[in-house]
Amino acid sequence: MIRKEDLPLVVDESMNEVHFEEVEMINSFLGQLDEKADFDTLADSFEELLAHMQEHFAGEEKLMKESRFPSYRLHKGEHDKILNEARYIYMDWRTRKESEPLREYFEEDIAQWLDQHIKAMDIPMAQFLKDGVVQCSIR
Ligand SMILES: [Fe+2]
Repeated sequence: MIRKEDLPLVVDESMNEVHFEEVEMINSFLGQLDEKADFDTLADSFEELLAHMQEHFAGEEKLMKESRFPSYRLHKGEHDKILNEARYIYMDWRTRKESEPLREYFEEDIAQWLDQHIKAMDIPMAQFLKDGVVQCSIR
């Protein structure tokens, strides 16, 4: 499980809401893995989660474009990379049907990615949307 309380917060409430929703979906998926839900149930949840990630990223990218956020390409690059990786993990799971690597992927890789991505990318972006200036440099 990923603790919602551990998620770093940005200054934009609607962005925080989307992050919370995503963590809830991940946690309910992990719960289904615990309960050994059937393949179709897990596949549906995983696909919903991928769709949510895609929408979440597209929403941020739209805001960045509209405000001409300077680190747009770097930020979008991180979104594209994790989305492709998650899609690959999904296809791999459909073939192998092993749930343990999935659990590890969400509890470790995705949890760590979310924490680092929000801190390095989303926090400065939300601050920029609010103030119109970049306060932290991204290195
Ligand atoms: Fe982001």
